[in-house]
Amino acid sequence: MNNIRNFCIISHVDHGKSTLADRFLELTNTVPKEKMREQFLDAMDLEREKGITIKMQPVRMEYENHILNLIDTPGHVDFNYEVSRSLAAVEGAILLVDASKGIQAQTISNLDLAKKQNLKIIPAINKIDMAQARIEETKKDLSSLLNVSSDEIFLISGKQGTNVLELLKAVIFQVPSPKGNIDGPFRALIIDSKYDPYKGVVAYIRVFDGSIKAGNRIRLLQAQIDSEAKEVGYFKPDLRQSEILKTGEIGYLATGIKEPGKVRVGDTITFSDSSLSWQKIKPLSGYKEPKPMVFLSIYPEDPNNFELLKESLEKLKLNDASLSFSPETKEGLGRGFRCGFLGLLHAEIVTERLRREFSLPSQKKTGSGLNLILSTPSVVYLITNQDDKETFIYTPSDWPDATRIKRAKELWARLVVLTPMNYLGKVLDLLKTIESKHVKNDYLGTEKAELTYEVPLREIINKNFYDRLKSISQGFASMNYEILDWRLGSFVKLDILILGKKEETFSKIVAEKDAFREAREMVEKLKEIIPSQLFALPIQAAIGGKVVARETVKALRRDVIAPLYGGDYTRKKKLLEKQKKGKQKLKERGKIRIPSQVFLDMFRG
Ligand code: GTP
Repeated sequence: MNNIRNFCIISHVDHGKSTLADRFLELTNTVPKEKMREQFLDAMDLEREKGITIKMQPVRMEYENHILNLIDTPGHVDFNYEVSRSLAAVEGAILLVDASKGIQAQTISNLDLAKKQNLKIIPAINKIDMAQARIEETKKDLSSLLNVSSDEIFLISGKQGTNVLELLKAVIFQVPSPKGNIDGPFRALIIDSKYDPYKGVVAYIRVFDGSIKAGNRIRLLQAQIDSEAKEVGYFKPDLRQSEILKTGEIGYLATGIKEPGKVRVGDTITFSDSSLSWQKIKPLSGYKEPKPMVFLSIYPEDPNNFELLKESLEKLKLNDASLSFSPETKEGLGRGFRCGFLGLLHAEIVTERLRREFSLPSQKKTGSGLNLILSTPSVVYLITNQDDKETFIYTPSDWPDATRIKRAKELWARLVVLTPMNYLGKVLDLLKTIESKHVKNDYLGTEKAELTYEVPLREIINKNFYDRLKSISQGFASMNYEILDWRLGSFVKLDILILGKKEETFSKIVAEKDAFREAREMVEKLKEIIPSQLFALPIQAAIGGKVVARETVKALRRDVIAPLYGGDYTRKKKLLEKQKKGKQKLKERGKIRIPSQVFLDMFRG
């Protein structure tokens, strides 16, 4: 146990965690040179395409008789639950700060999380090779943030490898080895999991007491289910079978459990040995359930795929503990799920993962995945009706008629924006576009301002505040938010009618004062992205049945006679007649096919 070190790398998004992890993997010869590629631990295709870490990823390295378990963590605020779970499995954290960007919002929020776990913090300034690196200022800011002398801060370049070995040695030297009772009854915390068709649920664990081998009977304390450990091992970072996992180690345990819904992160695994009275075994402290902030409904495009969607969500939840979902039924859409997410990027990633990772065996061959219909994302509202009954409203379609609403409330959040001084003007302009109450301004040295506001969560989510902040500040400003309380507001439901028919998935709850502007924006956007049909297509926005905005997608006149050259007039006429009839028929049915790309584009805002 004395030779084990468990640690994470934490930072704001893009400060270089995965790149630093690459250097560690090389230094310790964990991954053979020919297999090495950039940001090796970002194994998911989606992570590589987007250049961001979505999942925590543990890896075991060996260096000079030490076992070093590193967990690479995401930096984006939407994946914070991955960070907090990783921190509960380790004793130390490297706090990485990009020298060209300095301290940013998640540097501070992730540091706070690490401090709560009493972790040993090793500060490091990264990207010192960059021309824009502002090493001295960052050093000053970081030493005052951590209250440490500036020579305790490592100056590194993850890209070039400068001082990376020194940092690794500091991990061995400064991070305490794990504690625990090696002879005690087995206790391990589930930090993550994934589904394997043969091994059942594979739980990623941190062993706190005792040890485990394949064949041991296990019990999940919270879920109250027993099973047998099919296999144990560690991460290299792919799964490597081993004979035993001991106190202090991070590894995996194939549980053989085939129902994905039964295994939850934060549960404690112990032995289900009758000689060992497990009732007396104290569960490990586990995790707080994350609170979803954004909701949207997901329906299979083909109603027959409901079961596939259900199974896919259950399996995905194993690998994404911050996802929540419950079944719902809607007219015109059939059966689907209302899903809760930590933010818009999280929602986008989950829907994309569903599409890519889950498909029917027949679709696998063609490479096509699960086709989904998505509603517009929404925050949760709390409605009091005329009989003083309170209901949470998660989707616009559940929004009651205005006459039945006595009071409506929404969640407010404390929003903290950290910006370099040269973007302060633009950031303040952006903040003016949302409803907010200014709380205070703080300054980090002379270079950065920390602006604190109270804002409705709706303003952050519905208006894609995060993306807009990034784009006006070229990525230099950053933000973090936490929920405060419920406050009163006035809202209306905006409906979209296409060809006179309400398209429930586009419905949206908006602040009353923004309703007309939003209505205009929505019909204009839909006009742009809905492909032309064979007939003119009216798009209307309505509030309580009253149309408040309208646009028309012009008809596409398909050239039905093009294939006919020569002058066969009667035949031409016939074809044109036929087309006319066809249009009428389509119109009567009132049915047009809206490609799923349109839903996605609307959803991205
Ligand atoms: P998230 O997990 O998404 O938060 O990102 P990350 O912190 O893992 O950052 P990542 O390692 O993906 O690096 C982000 C970008 O910074 C990449 O383009 C890297 O090539 C670059 N980068 C990382 N370290 C260095 C460095 O030391 N010097 C320079 N010049 N660039 C670096």
